[in-house]
Amino acid sequence: MVVADFGSFGFDDERALPATTLDGWRQFVNDEPLEFTLLADEKCKSLDEVTRAQYDEARMTYHSELIVVETSAVRQVVREGRLLTVMNKRERSARRGLIVSGQWATGKSTAIKQLGRVHELLVRQRFPGQDRIPVVYVTAPPKGSPKKLATQFAHFLGMPPFKSRANEMDIAIAVCEVLTEARCDLVILDEIHNVNMATSQGEDLSDHMKYFTEHLPATFIYAGINVESSGLFTGIRGQQLAARCVMTKTGKFPYNEEWKSMVATMEHALRLHCHDPGSLLKQARYLHKRTRGVISSLSHIIRASAICAIVDGREAVTRELMDTITVDHSSESGSPKTPRPHDDGDA
Ligand SMILES: Nc1ncnc2c1ncn2[C@@H]1O[C@H](COP(=O)(O)OP(=O)(O)OP(=O)(O)O)[C@@H](O)[C@H]1O
Ligand SMILES: [Mg+2]
Repeated sequence: MVVADFGSFGFDDERALPATTLDGWRQFVNDEPLEFTLLADEKCKSLDEVTRAQYDEARMTYHSELIVVETSAVRQVVREGRLLTVMNKRERSARRGLIVSGQWATGKSTAIKQLGRVHELLVRQRFPGQDRIPVVYVTAPPKGSPKKLATQFAHFLGMPPFKSRANEMDIAIAVCEVLTEARCDLVILDEIHNVNMATSQGEDLSDHMKYFTEHLPATFIYAGINVESSGLFTGIRGQQLAARCVMTKTGKFPYNEEWKSMVATMEHALRLHCHDPGSLLKQARYLHKRTRGVISSLSHIIRASAICAIVDGREAVTRELMDTITVDHSSESGSPKTPRPHDDGDA
């Protein structure tokens, strides 16, 4: 989206629908990354008060989202996922899936949604004008029963509520019919750590998942927090799933060239009037210490600082400003806001 008229940008009431509904998913797929062109300083100074407020509001909206960085994890998930969808196309029985596993807030959902978006855009390009549903995105229900899982699929599709006496199989059969008809070929199941095969409830849920994998000619992508230790691979059913899946890990980023490049990419996306280009990259090590290499915290600290910089008029993301931003409890505990002097300027 190129924003020429910032008047309505940031003021519209349009809210992001949850990607776990077909409308929300399509909105996510359709949305181009936001773009924003800064006005020249002279032009900016000449704005009246109301227009200036609109301009700033629009920039805050832009920075609240900023960009999805194409990290090595995103690249790997998209690559593996694409490869599997191609390989599974003519496979009739033992289709392979992909599991994305890693610590919380390490970009798992972002990566699998990017894969889904890439896949859906390719399908739309290949079969223009067809009313397909190439991708389904659902989350595994906490303490989930098979009926709850089947209902998540039905909810994604916007199917009318089932009668209360409908059991999970009634719902699953109806869902599979719709998805087969709509040529769905990628099913993304997030929050899979909610399924614990060590419990009888988890076993039931996994049997039910298996029903979907056997009745839908699709590639299944799973993502969850440290699934290796969450009980997903426990028991015969768990081992069967593990044997059919490729695993990709996400995690904290070490302080290296990729980290610096992520900081540089985010810095490049800033739209502030007095920001000195390259000054944020010089704080790459400081940012690594503040965030402990967690991408979610990095994104938060930069986006929050940019918004504060607009509000307080300094128009630059500085170290002093970032010091005032609270990241999150897990990153804050023990990570100093004022690092040792030799941490400066290392980029
Ligand atoms: N590639 C990326 N580029 C920019 N920001 C990112 C990227 N990946 C993740 N983030 C930021 O980190 C936040 C958390 O990411 P995400 O929800 O993908 O993590 P997760 O591993 O699924 O977390 P959880 O374990 O809580 O489900 C996102 O809202 C976004 O702000
Ligand atoms: Mg997630």
